[in-house]
Amino acid sequence: HIDQTEYLCNGELKSWNKEKISIFSPIFVCKDKDSMPEQMVLGSCPSLDEEETLKILDAAVKAYNDGNGIWPLMRVEDRIKCVEKFIYLMGENKDEIVNLLMWEIAKSHKDSEKEFDRTIKYMIDTIDALKTLDRNSSRFLIEDSIIAQIRRSPLGIVLCMGPFNYPLNETFTTLIPALIMGNVVIFKPPKHGILLYRPLLKAFKEAFPPGVINTLYGRGRVVASALMSTGKISCLAFIGTSKAADSLQKSHPMPHRLRMILGLEAKNPAIVLPDASISLTVKECLLGALSFNGQRCTALKILFIHSKIVDIFLEELSNEIGKLKIGAPFDDDVFITPMPDESRIKYFIELIEDAKLLGAKIVNKFGGSYNKTFFYPTILYPVSNKSRIYNEEQFGPIIPVVPFSNIEEPLKYITESNYGQQASIFGTDPDVIAKIIDILVNQVCRVNLNSQCQRGPDIFPFTGRKDSAVGTLSVSDALRSFSIRTLVAAKSNDLNKD
Ligand code: G3H
Repeated sequence: HIDQTEYLCNGELKSWNKEKISIFSPIFVCKDKDSMPEQMVLGSCPSLDEEETLKILDAAVKAYNDGNGIWPLMRVEDRIKCVEKFIYLMGENKDEIVNLLMWEIAKSHKDSEKEFDRTIKYMIDTIDALKTLDRNSSRFLIEDSIIAQIRRSPLGIVLCMGPFNYPLNETFTTLIPALIMGNVVIFKPPKHGILLYRPLLKAFKEAFPPGVINTLYGRGRVVASALMSTGKISCLAFIGTSKAADSLQKSHPMPHRLRMILGLEAKNPAIVLPDASISLTVKECLLGALSFNGQRCTALKILFIHSKIVDIFLEELSNEIGKLKIGAPFDDDVFITPMPDESRIKYFIELIEDAKLLGAKIVNKFGGSYNKTFFYPTILYPVSNKSRIYNEEQFGPIIPVVPFSNIEEPLKYITESNYGQQASIFGTDPDVIAKIIDILVNQVCRVNLNSQCQRGPDIFPFTGRKDSAVGTLSVSDALRSFSIRTLVAAKSNDLNKD
């Protein structure tokens, strides 16, 4: 049981003994051999109030402005040294963080370790990218007798909020570029994935000057809204649902002027052409739809399979699903683990019942079955375009399958979708594929050939169109997103005089 009382404000680990939030694990445990399983309470963390939130904001504003802004004024090389020190300190806490990832969000040991290593790599890549940023373009402009030096300056105070599915990696992909560009950061970890920050608070405190990074613990509608409504947040970096992003934006006094970097929802489709390799497609679709129980914004969330191959595809996909190991995140070779809470299971059942009423069937053995927070992977076929799961982002282990005979059908789906993150195409005819790619690159931001959708490698640009994203989060794009180009201009005559 972790009773987290501390939070980081102005370089101090302050203690909070008022209201707390209980943190539950997705994992159910039995207290003894005769008792019923209960969802495990992992611990608690501070539920800060508005007054404390505004103190955190004051600390951040002070760190940005006072003493002419110690952090934004610091040489880039010195800011890099702070991040390097942090990387070292974070590395020392790997085992504890990986363990907490497993208990807090039920991510398998292998994937939790991968998330940790990927986050460290992201920070190292960011430092490398910063060293070469803008080196290729001229840093001076001369026109009409004016000479201007172009600088890359920070935005101000950035509020970073990451999602539960990648509480470490996705938070860091905004927090680190924001910090290293000279911004001051307030960050709020997600409710599932908050305790793993405990060992990191000390590392932040040791690596960065006071007030440069501050943690905000509490209920989003209290603490994040209180911050936004001051109008002092220069940039909102948020990864999560569109609904939460909209409500945060609306709390700002001038919502349309707020700078935002957003990673939101997606409904990435796969188009499987009649000449696709069945074994490769089944393997990639299974990984794409079911890795981390389908809880990835980049997951494949609907499959369009050509009618000529749909039967064999469904048979092989069902067989492969039957081989997946279900269990606790620390079990060897586990693939399907518990969902965060039982409300998710209720939602999946609603989606399945709705699809069944509109003609779909559960294709695979044990599909639709569940126990507490476990939900068995479920293939639904044929899914009607009237059913909820046709458009809603399920964010779970349900695979809706739609047969097609004319390529215009999946293309129409993608064009009309509210989302526009990624798509996958499976097939072997280069001419056919080339034509589809030319259409898809105008609708989504990454087209994957004979492979699942995915974000990585993290140095690749990561974004989306429509309701899927605002701004781009690769390593170098993020450095640009969290900075602004400023000019120092002089009349060239004045320069000549000197
Ligand atoms: O949830 C969205 C993540 O950025 C997905 O990353 O495709 O590497 O799992 P991934």
